[in-house]
Amino acid sequence: MDKIRIRGGIPLKGSVRVHGAKNAVLPLMAAAILAEDACVLHNVPCLHDVFTMDKLLSCTGLVIDFTGRYMTLDPANINTPEAPYEWVRKMRASFFVLGPLLARFGRARVSLPGGCAIGTRPVDIHIKGLEALGAKITIEDGYVVAEGPLHGGDYTLDFPSVGATENLMMAACRGKNFTRIMNAAREPEIEDLARFLNAMGAQISGAGTDMICVAGVDTLHGAEHVVLPDRIEAGTFLIAGVATGGDVTVLNANPEHLSGLSEKLREAGALVEVHGGHVRAAAPDGIKGVDITTLVYPGFATDLQAQMMALLTCASGVSRIKETVFENRFMQAAELTRMGADIDLDGNTVIVRGVPALSGAPVMASDLRASAALVIAGLMAKRGETAISRVYHIDRGYERIEERFASLGADIERVRE
Ligand code: EPZ
Repeated sequence: MDKIRIRGGIPLKGSVRVHGAKNAVLPLMAAAILAEDACVLHNVPCLHDVFTMDKLLSCTGLVIDFTGRYMTLDPANINTPEAPYEWVRKMRASFFVLGPLLARFGRARVSLPGGCAIGTRPVDIHIKGLEALGAKITIEDGYVVAEGPLHGGDYTLDFPSVGATENLMMAACRGKNFTRIMNAAREPEIEDLARFLNAMGAQISGAGTDMICVAGVDTLHGAEHVVLPDRIEAGTFLIAGVATGGDVTVLNANPEHLSGLSEKLREAGALVEVHGGHVRAAAPDGIKGVDITTLVYPGFATDLQAQMMALLTCASGVSRIKETVFENRFMQAAELTRMGADIDLDGNTVIVRGVPALSGAPVMASDLRASAALVIAGLMAKRGETAISRVYHIDRGYERIEERFASLGADIERVRE
């Protein structure tokens, strides 16, 4: 098991390019199930979750070749509308294959995803949505067994679930039906998926708004697509720049996708500048505490909550962070406290009282974004060394994170145990 060792207190300086978005590429890979011929994805990030999706899709017969950041997905031999537990349990996003498998084959058998560190993460909205579109669904031995055909129709999501919106949008693409998905999630990754599906010949409009319309078509052909930049990776680097009193520029971010973060960093007293696709954040004089409530897009992203908590541990004053999207996403709080932070938990809200400095300590990663928070805390620590174990959590969503931060001046290394 690898560990990441950090000796903090060094202001990060410089610029970095972010990779393709993890939360875009995973549904894009699933969407290739719908095509009659090969698809090509560019700017694919080299992440553990991408390898897991590769293995899962290979179980259906989809043939994937992934070299560098270039991926071909060939559905010529796709023949098994199944997603086995061994892969689905590793990664909840595996469940996004249900909609495309059902649309292509008229039936599908996909394992129910287990819960994970940040919550039980049910799939009731996915299932109720597919049933509203005509699917007959039973739960058998821990698997969702779905039968078509889908007849389309209107469905209003109880909650604007990103995955449910993507599953339903993909399910509705093929077949002679018209579907309206209301109270849809509006995340940029959904727009990216719709662009790819439309390039394949789908008829989707409204992606990025809360009402998505899909006119089903008989078949979809292959298409090429460039995965959009990862707004959460970009936000992680900008937060780290501010947290270390440095000056960091992300060269290929989409500023519109970072507006919630930019406004919050400015409110805390950081300098945030946008020049075209470059976003710069700096805070040479430190920051003050702010209140944050995580919301669905375009509100403050839940996937940046943990990173902001690390930043706010050394703000001047008190901060309140309210997590409204997931039920248990404060896993980083206990480890940050071990590094000297002053954090009180109260249900879905935490109170963070700024302290002068953190101290390095041995800590354990628990989930992807909590792990990123621990890296930021290690970079902030003015004394001692931070050793983060279970870094496989980080590798799920960040490519060689230690090299990226080292390029910004951090004293950080990965050690193999
Ligand atoms: C996606 O997860 C992202 N993952 C998550 O990123 C992200 O945090 C989340 O959207 C919210 O933005 C991918 O895109 C691969 P949801 P998803 O369905 O689709 C509840 C990361 O760190 N819910 O929008 O699983 C659910 O329990 C990951 O990169 C139901 O109750 O999230 C949660 O409380 C973490 N029933 C809330 O909705 C359902 O059927 C939001 O979940 C579905 C969801």
